[in-house]
Amino acid sequence: MQDQAWVAHAPRSGVSFATTTAVEGEGTPSDPQATGPQDRPELADVGRLVRRGVRGVVAAARAGEVTTLTSILREHLGTDSAGMPVVEESWPAYEHVNVQAGVDAWLAATGAEVKVVGIVGFQHRPFGLGDLLAQEARDPYGPRPGNVARLNLPCGPDGEVRACVRCALYLVTDGPTRTVLLLRGAEPESGIGQVTVQVVSTDPTRGPEAAREIRAATIERNVFRGHVLSFAQEMFGHGQTALHFHRRPTLTAEQLILPTQTIAAVERQVVGVAEHKAALLAAGQHLKRGLLLYGPPGVGKTHTVRYLTASLHGTTVLQLSGDALHLIGEACSVARTLAPSMVIIEDVDLIAEDRGMHPGQHPLLFQLLNEMDGLAEDADVVFVLTTNRADLLEPALAARPGRVDQAIELHLPDAEGRRALVELYRGGLALPDGAADDVVRRTEGVTASFLKELLRRAALVAGDRLPTVSADDLTTALDELLETRNAMTRTLLGGGAPGSGPSVPEG
Ligand SMILES: Nc1ncnc2c1ncn2[C@@H]1O[C@H](COP(=O)(O)OP(=O)(O)O)[C@@H](O)[C@H]1O
Ligand SMILES: [Mg+2]
Repeated sequence: MQDQAWVAHAPRSGVSFATTTAVEGEGTPSDPQATGPQDRPELADVGRLVRRGVRGVVAAARAGEVTTLTSILREHLGTDSAGMPVVEESWPAYEHVNVQAGVDAWLAATGAEVKVVGIVGFQHRPFGLGDLLAQEARDPYGPRPGNVARLNLPCGPDGEVRACVRCALYLVTDGPTRTVLLLRGAEPESGIGQVTVQVVSTDPTRGPEAAREIRAATIERNVFRGHVLSFAQEMFGHGQTALHFHRRPTLTAEQLILPTQTIAAVERQVVGVAEHKAALLAAGQHLKRGLLLYGPPGVGKTHTVRYLTASLHGTTVLQLSGDALHLIGEACSVARTLAPSMVIIEDVDLIAEDRGMHPGQHPLLFQLLNEMDGLAEDADVVFVLTTNRADLLEPALAARPGRVDQAIELHLPDAEGRRALVELYRGGLALPDGAADDVVRRTEGVTASFLKELLRRAALVAGDRLPTVSADDLTTALDELLETRNAMTRTLLGGGAPGSGPSVPEG
């Protein structure tokens, strides 16, 4: 009797086994002895009997009782769910973190009861709520309920991350209304290039409404807003676009040595328009603006951009450079959504050199100018372009006037500028009286970055005597920098030999 009891218990205890993988290994053929004519089971048979019982349960479960995504959806939505309309919203892959933020905020705002059902076996399979609602998933390796797989995605400049669902169902119960979201991240290796949220609801108006609200929430909760970001092409991510967070630089006006009228012109165009936004709009003036900073290497184009980035607190800054220049369309779209924003395209001459199929074509440059043109006039978006080669850009800019409202040339520093630069980059170094005059006299035609390097070298020459730097240390460092054997360094730092006038290295 006891043995019978054991056997009878086996299926019940096996129910919990049936969902574990341990059961899936139970494929061994049964012992012939166990099927032989035996009056009553012995203790040694118990294991076999239990296994047989479990097999019976698994078979029964597979025959229709097993929990599938379809059965979960039907249970939540009701049996007539198969024909319910599915609404989909999609975003570029790099918006995954914002979609998660939006979905989380939306769920919290509804105040509804939410259950998350993880999905496994989703990889390499395009499927949607419609598929899951329509049929039982017969494919044992296809999408099925499982653990919620999450991906930590950056959401701030100091290594902050947000756990983002890769593929899961959200079962939402809001009074009598039952809604389901299917959130799925992009999976470029499977050709799924977008993040999607699909919605189905027992209330036919709720689905489209929820989709709209989630889209709005992803914008409202956008984690990129107000940050400094750069666009990059992921080398190992199937050509995926990624956005990287950067810490906003801190750079004060004292650290930027430029003629007063140059700084004033730059600030008026970039910061001033932002400050007087309301008054300008009221007066029918546009906010969208473009600024080109040009001049030889090392005069502070990048430095000025950093200064502007530091000054425009709360402005979304999008940097594009190098091999990410073709992402200009994406950058402009993010800039438009997250205005006020600043789009920075450094060394824009690289775009101009990107020749098209036909001679004289510059597809990327024209795309940039088109994007600038396409933005609404009242969009608070400023474009800051920099180049060493204004000559390359000029024809294109002249042909499409109105995109760049102002081109500001940054010059090699004059004597006053050089004196200010020595003072700035001296830092805590103690220089003898008159030493700065000597440097200023001997450095006609060098760049700001040359002077910065000069003081660093002089400090290295002084070595043990720091923080005191003698006139000789300075002379040694300057001679070193100016010597012909350092011609290479000079080219890199953009310095010209004294008396030879400003040199503008190519490129
Ligand atoms: N006008 C300037 N005022 C203060 N520092 C400058 C200035 N211009 C250049 N520098 C210094 O030289 C470095 C290199 O200059 P950078 O802005 O990169 O030159 P560019 O972009 O014009 O080639 C800067 O990081 C900064 O430290
Ligand atoms: Mg630069």
